[in-house]
Amino acid sequence: MIDTTAINQQRNQFAQHADIWLFGYGSLIWKADFAYLESRSAYITGWERRFWQGSHDHRGTPEAPGRVVTLTPVAGAICHGMAYRITPETLAPLDHREKNGYLREITSMHFTDGSEAQGLVYMATDDNPAFLGPAPLEAMAQQIARAEGPSGPNRDYLMNLASALRELQVDDAHIFALEEQLQRL
Ligand code: SIN
Repeated sequence: MIDTTAINQQRNQFAQHADIWLFGYGSLIWKADFAYLESRSAYITGWERRFWQGSHDHRGTPEAPGRVVTLTPVAGAICHGMAYRITPETLAPLDHREKNGYLREITSMHFTDGSEAQGLVYMATDDNPAFLGPAPLEAMAQQIARAEGPSGPNRDYLMNLASALRELQVDDAHIFALEEQLQRL
């Protein structure tokens, strides 16, 4: 199984900073089980959220991976999520949590008050071994309906993300279409 922990620890671009802004767009929105100083709703530009990353360690198993979100580049797109101000020590548990193919990348993020910050985002690109890529909506929903891993049913990941986005008043066509497919099964 892939483990990006060591690579991410080398990508310590903000190690000298007292605090770091982290942008979350998936489970990091609704499962903030790490220490943070402050959270704010935020968005990044040029990326869309997609259920294209395989989960072999949280919402599936190596034999039957689940599907979780990553980001894909789309010109002009906006991806809304949640930004957390964390201390550099918090990156260790986050690297462990995001080890199945996600790398720390630097991003600009925008806050609702119009201000902006540079920070980190965990991104799983299409060349990582756990990447599954696109599939028909129904096939993705069926895979999510069946998969389960140490963190729980894959279904809960999708439902929790959809509810969190609704709470943030974010319209995300991909997520809501997949949620609807899942509920129809
Ligand atoms: C994120 O939420 O920002 C990364 C993907 C995930 O942990 O679900």
